[in-house]
Amino acid sequence: MKSDTPKVLVIHGPNLNLLGKRETDIYGCRSLDEINKDIISLASELGLNVSTKQLNGEGDIVELIQQGDYEALIINPAAYTHTSIAIRDAIAAIGKPAVEVHLSNIYRREEFRRKSFITEVSAGQICGFGPDSYLLALRAIKSIL
Ligand code: DQA
Repeated sequence: MKSDTPKVLVIHGPNLNLLGKRETDIYGCRSLDEINKDIISLASELGLNVSTKQLNGEGDIVELIQQGDYEALIINPAAYTHTSIAIRDAIAAIGKPAVEVHLSNIYRREEFRRKSFITEVSAGQICGFGPDSYLLALRAIKSIL
């Protein structure tokens, strides 16, 4: 990878380590490892240097965002989407382009999932396309950078 290749950080939030086993009717049968492989493969096609990280803790996610060693962020904050002002503020503070991702269509589910604290500090939100949501986010980041 060339040293001037833009770095993109992909953060998977809480419980996404259980993908493939967790509520497969909603989130599908693919594991996080399989999804990450597809993300890495598309990133290299697009000329992006991607790294992926899954974290269950809100503070851990805030710390990783703050480290700032990336040009753009793709984040599926999972349940923290609907609760976390801390993650929202970290994204705003770091000021790098961010794309919010969800596997499921959060607007077709429970009422409480319709509120996202993350969207207003993101370039955009992609939801409802299963694992392809991440791949669409990568393409969006590529055109932003
Ligand atoms: C999710 C949607 C959230 O509401 C939920 O809490 C998740 C996953 C998604 O990818 O569809 O854990 O972010």
